[in-house]
Amino acid sequence: MLCYAMAPSEQQASYPHALVLPFPAQGHIIPALQLANKLLSQGIRTTFICAQHRINLIPTTLRFTGRVVALPDKVDLEKEKVDAGVQSLCRSADTVEDMRDSFQQLLNSDQFSDSRIFLISDFLLPWTADIAIKINIPRYVFFPSSATALSVSMYLPSLMAQIHIPLRSSDLHQCSTFIHVPGLPKLLAPSDLPSAFREDCPAESRNTCVKSCLLLREASAIVVNSFSELERPCFRALQNDQRLNSNQTKIYSVGPLLQLDYINCPEFNSEEREHHPVEEPSYTKWLDTQSSASVLYISFGSIAQLSVHQIHEIAHGLEKSTHPFLWVIRQPENCSESTAAYSLLPDGFQIRTKGRGFITFTWAPQLLILSHPSTGGFFTHCGWNSILESICRGIPVLALPQFGEQDLNCRVVVDELQIGVEVEKGEDGVAGREEIERAVRLVMGEKGAELRKKASEWMDAARMASVGSSAANFKSLCNKITSYAYT
Ligand code: UDX
Repeated sequence: MLCYAMAPSEQQASYPHALVLPFPAQGHIIPALQLANKLLSQGIRTTFICAQHRINLIPTTLRFTGRVVALPDKVDLEKEKVDAGVQSLCRSADTVEDMRDSFQQLLNSDQFSDSRIFLISDFLLPWTADIAIKINIPRYVFFPSSATALSVSMYLPSLMAQIHIPLRSSDLHQCSTFIHVPGLPKLLAPSDLPSAFREDCPAESRNTCVKSCLLLREASAIVVNSFSELERPCFRALQNDQRLNSNQTKIYSVGPLLQLDYINCPEFNSEEREHHPVEEPSYTKWLDTQSSASVLYISFGSIAQLSVHQIHEIAHGLEKSTHPFLWVIRQPENCSESTAAYSLLPDGFQIRTKGRGFITFTWAPQLLILSHPSTGGFFTHCGWNSILESICRGIPVLALPQFGEQDLNCRVVVDELQIGVEVEKGEDGVAGREEIERAVRLVMGEKGAELRKKASEWMDAARMASVGSSAANFKSLCNKITSYAYT
């Protein structure tokens, strides 16, 4: 081995050492931790560097045996109610700035001087680019979402030349404007673009997002949580089309970044059961009583907070559909007691759906629920982790995107993969009860078998990719990393 030829001090300093920095939100931390685990498993020294207030919110099912460093932030856990979801997005935006200072101090402390460090930074931490340039180390970008979302993000300079960004509300409903993004099989409407490009997005968040997009081409490489077979034309364009990637930045698709036993083992995950001793019996006991593939699982991820109006429309739609459901409702900020949370629902809803519906206001063991044989559909906001988790269980989806790049993910699911049905919103941005009833009946009934067949084909493709294309890409990523250490 190369390092044997070196003196001991040189030997140590030549070790590659990945500093993995996720954006401080569950949907980013979870796949970043999986990536960190994979790097460790290849013998690459890896330190996971996470905003302090989120460390204790990392799901216990995700075991990471490497070093974790908590970056001090200004979130006072004693005073503020911070749970795994909701408030976290605004908090995340503030925390990102705190992280910058804390990270700079960490680097100044000289504790990484025994190795050749490099960054694997979430794409939404643009300040890591300045730091990487300043101390002359590579910055790999981790993109936790779809290749479709990555393409749109990398196309932003051209997009800005074509349409006005930020998008005005009136632009969103212009039926005549369609956008062609290289690699995307269909034209996009302005309303499909990430919500951060809209004028109603707070300027600070929009600027961060725009800056992050513009910096993508400058990365040493981009690591994407998707797999080549899932979004093939997109990956081809990302690698070869100058309009997306003028610097020929190498793109590594290494997904799905999920626990290996979740990808490979279709059975109910007994190991994960052990980690949910409190919630597990109530969920599973109820699911155990339902018939195969009959239950609709409803969850809008860790951030999205539905309006009371939307919650009511969903409740009425579910009630009318007559299908069994398991619904995870994120509690609004000003609603701390579960009794108050229940008052979000229409009067008498629980009585009328008793025995047919199960509602929870806490963090749910999503992988466990999706793994249960009674779960037959997933009503989702199209967060990319949720989509991959659904695919890996061959479960069809009802798509009701909320924010961020979720409209793009919805296009992937409905138009490209054909594993789901979109729930159309009205002009007020709310999906009505009739539309919800229609979509539930379609996915859980007449169209279910067809969608499930497609979903299970993608499930097989995901399994193949995890030992095939994504494994090969990950190996070449590790080779690139290792060669950096010895140059
Ligand atoms: C966000 C964005 O929405 C998403 O599109 C982006 O790609 C990553 O960041 P989030 O909204 O939380 O994430 O959705 P999602 O990507 O689905 O991630 C949520 C994760 O939390 C999933 O891994 C899901 O299994 C888990 N989760 C969520 C639970 O385990 N229990 C819950 O109750 C809610």
